[in-house]
Amino acid sequence: MFSKKVLVSTLLAACLACSANAGVKFTKTTDGTDFTEKLMATKGAFGDTKKKDNVMTEAEKVFLETGKNIYVGDAAAEKRGKKRFGYWSCTQCHGPTAKGQVGPGLVGPTFRYPKDATNKGMFETIWYGTNGGMGGKGFGVMAPDDGMTVDELLKTIAWVRTNGSKGVTGNEGL
Ligand code: HEC
Repeated sequence: MFSKKVLVSTLLAACLACSANAGVKFTKTTDGTDFTEKLMATKGAFGDTKKKDNVMTEAEKVFLETGKNIYVGDAAAEKRGKKRFGYWSCTQCHGPTAKGQVGPGLVGPTFRYPKDATNKGMFETIWYGTNGGMGGKGFGVMAPDDGMTVDELLKTIAWVRTNGSKGVTGNEGL
């Protein structure tokens, strides 16, 4: 028979595991391999970059569990995402409104990588990059201590969606 203490700590351990495990599986656009565990274990991959505290945000938790980007339609988050789009030089290749320059347009409705129509898919493409000239921008991908946090990338994607002509949110079906 379990003592109350054992039961409580068992429940706590189960709960910690559930908050640390992603409900969604993430696969690289480059080779289709799973990077969920690596992402979860990457120190520095999470958090609001304004706070610089690496504490997982609510948006990150929802995204990891469901694939939904709750920043889409959130004007303040989109504004911040626009700034990060410039900060990470996305502008240089994709243009100031993400409609394309050296790199392709990101506004759809069709994409080179069809999964980019979803926020999860676009996240995977930007985090690890592609084989056709798009370098990965996720934290730890370019250099061990550099890159975007999940929260930052979700805001950036939310802003990218505001430039789409067909009202695509990337959260369709979620
Ligand atoms: C040095 C130029 C360059 C920079 C900087 C760059 N990209 Fe790209 N990006 C590309 C190229 C080239 C492609 C096409 C890659 C391919 O066909 O495999 C691409 C593809 C993409 C795609 C896939 C589009 C599709 O149709 O499926 C997304 C999404 C994307 N980039 C987002 C971003 C974001 C967000 C940033 C900034 C964090 C960024 N890129 C920075 C050059 C760049």
